[in-house]
Amino acid sequence: MEKEIIEERQGEILVQECSTKNTKKMFLESYGCQMNFSDSEIVASILSNEGYNTTSLLEEADLILLNTCSIRDKAEQTVRKRLSQFNAIKRKNPNLVIGVLGCMAERLKAKFLEEEHLVDLVVGPDAYRDLPNLLKNTDDGRNAINVLLSKEETYADISPIRLGGNGVTAFVSITRGCDNMCTFCVVPFTRGRERSRDPHSILKECKELRENGYKEITLLGQNIDSYLWYGGGPKKDFSKASELQKATAINFAQLLNMVAEACPEIRIRFSTSNPQDMHEEVLHVMAKHNNICKYIHLPVQSGSTSVLQRMNRQHTREEYIYLVDKIREIVPDCAISHDIITGFCGETEEEHQETLSLMKYVKYDFGYMFAYSERPGTVAHKKMEDDIPAEIKSRRLKEIINLQQELSLERMKTYINKVHEVLVEGTSKKSKEQWYGRISQNAVVVFTKTDNTKVGDFVNVLVNGCTSATLIGEII
Ligand code: SAH
Ligand code: F3S
Repeated sequence: MEKEIIEERQGEILVQECSTKNTKKMFLESYGCQMNFSDSEIVASILSNEGYNTTSLLEEADLILLNTCSIRDKAEQTVRKRLSQFNAIKRKNPNLVIGVLGCMAERLKAKFLEEEHLVDLVVGPDAYRDLPNLLKNTDDGRNAINVLLSKEETYADISPIRLGGNGVTAFVSITRGCDNMCTFCVVPFTRGRERSRDPHSILKECKELRENGYKEITLLGQNIDSYLWYGGGPKKDFSKASELQKATAINFAQLLNMVAEACPEIRIRFSTSNPQDMHEEVLHVMAKHNNICKYIHLPVQSGSTSVLQRMNRQHTREEYIYLVDKIREIVPDCAISHDIITGFCGETEEEHQETLSLMKYVKYDFGYMFAYSERPGTVAHKKMEDDIPAEIKSRRLKEIINLQQELSLERMKTYINKVHEVLVEGTSKKSKEQWYGRISQNAVVVFTKTDNTKVGDFVNVLVNGCTSATLIGEII
């Protein structure tokens, strides 16, 4: 699943029979990041125990749930538009319950119920265990809301119901929340304090996936390298942990090593790495294990130290470059991708040029690029001026997108005339005769199907052509 590039992703309808015994139907649509997608699988699991199966047909739904994203204004507008489409359905079926989950629910809280009259249920990302109770409260037409954030909730014991997937790739959440407080970002407000999940429950989930035929696991966290298990509680309280807890704490490099060793036949990916928290130890673990994919998503946001400071990012341009050099040295075949924001408060033309020059230095494989969108309640909103005109933001955005396309093409060319191990993930969207899958470096490759291959197989593919977005090859 790809994150959005400039355009916000449309919602993804998630369907999978939860239990043959279930009679009620929920229509569950997820917006935004992979974490939301993963949360929707937890929601499906919780509601499966309440008698709900998923459906892709709005008309037959007893319950509609939108798992929403607040990251940019446009993401919120998309959800508002979607909600307005439900008016007609609700008129025909007054018993229908409509719920908003996730970051928009958390950001707007009860205001949502005032603003969107057809919404019955508002539930924040840490309150999904309360869904069965909240739903009971809506039985007689009342509204229900729970937007409490938690310092402990990781849903560690809940087995997600894998939705809409291909049966071979899955997400496993390992941290929730974020303590970083980048000045532009709404996530620390909508997802609360950073906390790590018990490593035993992570390993258990990974092993279950392996037993169920899964071949690739992506470990997820807003700030994954900052994972730290010391017995529970928020990361920022680690200083208060006992000596024993401190001595037996597990960091991300150790966890990654444990997962790679426990599931040697499974590919492991992880996202998202924050430059300030990504340490060499993780790179050595990556280099040591063949089953850890050689790909790091390393958002930079800007190539200019002064902009990074205004963004409250905890690293400079030079520190980022140092880290990239280390990646190239320790994991030489590693692909790197980025997130970049153009037109942040006060961004000068020189600062923008520094972003372009950093991109050329790193030679990113791929990137997610966005024009800055002011978010209410953030430090940038309160203390800085969103002063870059829309035309300049979008011109700069075009420049970085164009450059990224050139860089992507250059990187893709380096994969040509080589044999790559590819996990078959499904039939190519363009041709029924072709499979698609990804190489370790995360680039998508399409290749002609053969009689003896199926989804979930690892195959060796000789890459013989490419565009800036896709590799083309043949099974050998
Ligand atoms: N650590 C997170 C980042 C979440 S937000 C993760 O797991 O990916 C994803 C990206 O959205 C950020 O890296 C940033 O580039 C972009 N973004 C966040 N807030 C934004 C805003 N206010 N305007 C534009 N883009 C934003
Ligand atoms: Fe947002 Fe920065 Fe955290 S981008 S998710 S506050 S690392």
